[in-house]
Amino acid sequence: MRIAVAKEYASGETRVALIPESAKRLIAKGHSVIVMPGAGERSFIPDQAYIDAGATIASDSASLIAGADLVCCVGIPESSTIEAMTNGKLLLGMLNPSGNTEMLSALAKAGGSAIALETVPRITRAQKVDALSAMSTIAGYRAVILAAEASPKLFPMLMTAAGTVTAVKAMIIGAGVAGLQAIATARRLGAVVEAYDIRPAAKEQVLSLGARFIELANSGAEDAETAGGYAREQTEAEQEQQRQLMADHIAASDVVITTALIPGRPAPKLIDKATVERMRSGAVIVDLAAEAGGNCELTEPGESVTHDGVTILGPSNLPAQTPVHASQMFSRICEAFVPELAPESDLAIDLANDIVGPSLVVHEGEIRFAPAREALGLGPLPEPEPEAEPTPEADA
Ligand code: NAI
Repeated sequence: MRIAVAKEYASGETRVALIPESAKRLIAKGHSVIVMPGAGERSFIPDQAYIDAGATIASDSASLIAGADLVCCVGIPESSTIEAMTNGKLLLGMLNPSGNTEMLSALAKAGGSAIALETVPRITRAQKVDALSAMSTIAGYRAVILAAEASPKLFPMLMTAAGTVTAVKAMIIGAGVAGLQAIATARRLGAVVEAYDIRPAAKEQVLSLGARFIELANSGAEDAETAGGYAREQTEAEQEQQRQLMADHIAASDVVITTALIPGRPAPKLIDKATVERMRSGAVIVDLAAEAGGNCELTEPGESVTHDGVTILGPSNLPAQTPVHASQMFSRICEAFVPELAPESDLAIDLANDIVGPSLVVHEGEIRFAPAREALGLGPLPEPEPEAEPTPEADA
């Protein structure tokens, strides 16, 4: 299979989809790798490192795509790349399909196929290609570093000749992948950490990291978790109850990191203005749900806001702040996808593959991503034809 590595063009994007170490292993397995010039630059990877790994450098974007079966990217590529994804070509990356029906239509029009890593099912076999978890881990870590930088306090308790400094109190809301990493990082920096998640199953994980789990009157609700393991969206009344119950904990915290998300839905609003006004001056909120509308009422996506002495950060694309390790993890995910896409040596998309099938948002010009089909009035996908029963003659 001919694998192309796109250069990211979104401003602030520093990651690259495939690093030379992965390219080398894929080439050793019989694939070829072609890389856009400067693709690895912002991850501190020169073109020469790809050449040394056995890859070739493309002369321009058009020839990169023209000579490829699989195009690996981190984020949505530029429109010329989308238009060049003709039949027989597959795009692989974090394509944010929920918010990009137009891009899916353009891909379908070009006739090619696309896998959005966000739609990979959370089954055990797919953990090796779980880009959401990998990038959430980095975001959880970075959120704590940002909070430590913005806080006017030291995180650890220190007993010095100049007196004793008490440890900061950190509260983490949402104990999924990012929240658990935030707990671990804040603990390593010496903070006293408490955490809350609507899913009762999160309690054990929070406790295992040495943090306190906040019990709210409505926690332990049996219906808080969907069959897929995610939190279900709460009603407005439930959210209001949660805001009231959490307010005392938030007001007493020096640092609050919020990570609460509901897949495909706006983020729940868990901190209102009145609660921010109860926090002490110098406190910091890092809202990892900023891009989904924010968990705090005052969050501005991509901005730092100060309200009554409280700093509220709404960072976007935190993984891009650690490009070396983010690219390394992303690259392992693309590499692990290759045997699913080309079990022999050529690209062979198998809709029955339990990782590939559900994550194909476009297949040979047909949009498969259900929310986009609904938005475009396309109706549900036709059921696959059942396999024909073998005839007695064929058996003989
Ligand atoms: P996410 O990014 O969708 O949400 C983050 C967290 O916010 C979740 O823990 C969710 O329960 C929580 N949340 C939502 N609404 C909330 C509210 N009102 N108050 C407090 N917390 C709220 O979730 P993420 O981190 O992607 O993982 C969700 C689940 O999937 C977890 O159980 C995780 O362990 C599981 N998972 C399973 C994997 C697998 O391969 N089996 C891989 C990765 C995650």
